[in-house]
Amino acid sequence: MNNIVPHTFNVGRKDRNNLKRHKSFVVWFTGLSGSGKSTLANMVEKELFEREIHTFSLDGDNIRGGLNNNLGFSRKDREENLRRIAEVAKLFVDSGSLVIASFISPLNADRDFIKNIIGDEDFVEVFVNTPLEVCENRDVKGLYKKARAGEIKNFTGIDAPYEAPEFPDIEVKTDLEKAEVSVSRIVEYVLEKLEIK
Ligand code: PPS
Repeated sequence: MNNIVPHTFNVGRKDRNNLKRHKSFVVWFTGLSGSGKSTLANMVEKELFEREIHTFSLDGDNIRGGLNNNLGFSRKDREENLRRIAEVAKLFVDSGSLVIASFISPLNADRDFIKNIIGDEDFVEVFVNTPLEVCENRDVKGLYKKARAGEIKNFTGIDAPYEAPEFPDIEVKTDLEKAEVSVSRIVEYVLEKLEIK
């Protein structure tokens, strides 16, 4: 970076964490379209918010409607999408918030890259492991049907890859476990890491 000198501010992340009485980090949901990322993230956020945790959600469709509305689903665009989101998530962590992010983030390389930007210690990976057949049967948004018909190109799981994380911090199987059970497992993990004062 040429001629860029970052300024040091008097109030820092630690001060904000002290004010909010808990740590800040990112809980990152990865999984296929229709796997249940946003549903679970929403439920997790509600539970934590009710416990007075300062949460903030970042979600695929929402970010793609604004900040990233110039990006599509080519490999290059997905990388840029996730890079910007990771940088935004990092800013929110600095603000003292618990960030709940839900993005397909399909490749191991994507998630490594994101973790690298956010920092290993501030990144909790939740793998929403719902089989493709289940997501396709649900087809909540009708996108799988369009992808099968060739109306959408580069659709994750159909003609674009999804690599399952090998060592996620938490794995959730939405076809085998009730959402409430998955949510309480995630919430329990997060509450411990928050070190609430
Ligand atoms: S990525 O791969 O992480 O950059 O994707 P993300 O930002 O999470 O966006 C996923 C949502 O975009 C819609 N959509 C598609 N998904 C996958 N592949 C293609 N080609 C595509 N086109 C549109 C879809 O609604 C995804 O939302 P979710 O919530 O995952 O179903």
